[in-house]
Amino acid sequence: MALPDFHLGGRTALVTGASSGLGRHFARTLAAAGAAVAVAARRVDKLDSLVDEIVREGGSARAVALDVNDAASVRAAFDAIAAWRGAPDVIVNNAGVAVSRPLLELAGHGIRVNAIAPGYVATELNRDFLASNAGQRLMARIPQKRFGDPADLDGPLLLLASEAGRFMTGSVIAVDGGHLVSSL
Ligand SMILES: NC(=O)c1ccc[n+]([C@@H]2O[C@H](COP(=O)([O-])OP(=O)(O)OC[C@H]3O[C@@H](n4cnc5c(N)ncnc54)[C@H](OP(=O)(O)O)[C@@H]3O)[C@@H](O)[C@H]2O)c1
Repeated sequence: MALPDFHLGGRTALVTGASSGLGRHFARTLAAAGAAVAVAARRVDKLDSLVDEIVREGGSARAVALDVNDAASVRAAFDAIAAWRGAPDVIVNNAGVAVSRPLLELAGHGIRVNAIAPGYVATELNRDFLASNAGQRLMARIPQKRFGDPADLDGPLLLLASEAGRFMTGSVIAVDGGHLVSSL
């Protein structure tokens, strides 16, 4: 019996917002699974050190300057990735906020669009708040009684990025220690 294949060898991934927090972790996870990873954000010095780290760990990565608010910057980033490896197979659209747009029409082109909905994970974005009294009160309301760790997202990330998730599109996977369902 063939088991689901989570390996990403030969694939190219783009992670936006890879200079810190979850994006940085996602990039390392995808590289460890075998993908060549374009790591993109505005702070290129941080991307360069991430690339060094991934290469030291035996992976393949390239830093790409990107401001997702600037269409010319987005085009230039995709051009740089195309010159390196061609079009990315996997895009982790991690920098930014939610926008409602019809994307499931993409399924006909073999492009799957899914989302991971993390609960609270300590990063630069929220570290001070999570350590505060208000943050600790919030933690008490999470059924698993802790905030998330970036590694808690590895399983869903590899599921969505690999062939193991080949029939999944339009899915939103909550990874939040039960936080969302406990508030219903
Ligand atoms: N941490 C959590 O608990 C949590 C929970 C649910 C959802 N999320 C979502 O997960 C994503 C990442 O959050 P995080 O906690 O990892 O935050 P973070 O540590 O603050 O990282 C944010 C990343 O986005 C990049 N970024 C910001 N503006 C950008 C722009 N205009 N163009 C390109 N890159 C940009 C930043 O890099 P530069 O400044 O170098 O550009 C940085 O790498 C966010 O969309 C957040 O809403 C986080």
